[in-house]
Amino acid sequence: MKVLLTEEEIRDGVAELAYKINEVYGKEPVTIIGIMTGSIMLLADLIRVLNMPLRVGVIQTSSYRSGAVRSELYINASMLPDIENRDVLLIDDIFDTGHTLSGVVAAIRENRPRSIRSAVLLRKTGRQQVTMQPDFVTFEIPDEFVIGYGLDYCDEYRHLPFIGTLESSDLRSADSDQHA
Ligand code: IMP
Ligand code: MG
Repeated sequence: MKVLLTEEEIRDGVAELAYKINEVYGKEPVTIIGIMTGSIMLLADLIRVLNMPLRVGVIQTSSYRSGAVRSELYINASMLPDIENRDVLLIDDIFDTGHTLSGVVAAIRENRPRSIRSAVLLRKTGRQQVTMQPDFVTFEIPDEFVIGYGLDYCDEYRHLPFIGTLESSDLRSADSDQHA
């Protein structure tokens, strides 16, 4: 495993992200929605450095892929708080193909929030398959498989305080379930 972003680099990046979010919303109340499970670290760190009144909730997604083929995105919104007429900020760990975030934005929109923006810790360069982009991107990273700071491989490594890359020899091939 190689370290891509140290704990300190992440802390600085999150502080910069918080600064930008504070600039956009000022003192207006925001409802932060973390996409489970990958956003746990960013969610916990970010909400401690934002200045406006906050409500915090979660939504869960999972997608299943068979080899290279990505199939349907499942969204569990049962823990979503009331967001009608609220300014919603979605938080996720990584913007890869973009299908997860764009699917969640569409699902959230059905609950008629006043506005929806999104913030991610990482965006993988050159991987996107959707037209939307997150409003806030903390780090742009190369197309490598990353783990740590919420990101998992087969549900392991989420607890690491830094972000590392796994070599392809560390990755089991064949079919796998992938939970966001
Ligand atoms: P997307 O729908 O392709 O944008 O991917 C979104 C989800 O796939 C993310 O929320 C992650 O949970 C997962 N994912 C994508 N790339 C990686 C990675 O490099 N490491 C770990 N999880 C990833
Ligand atoms: Mg995720």
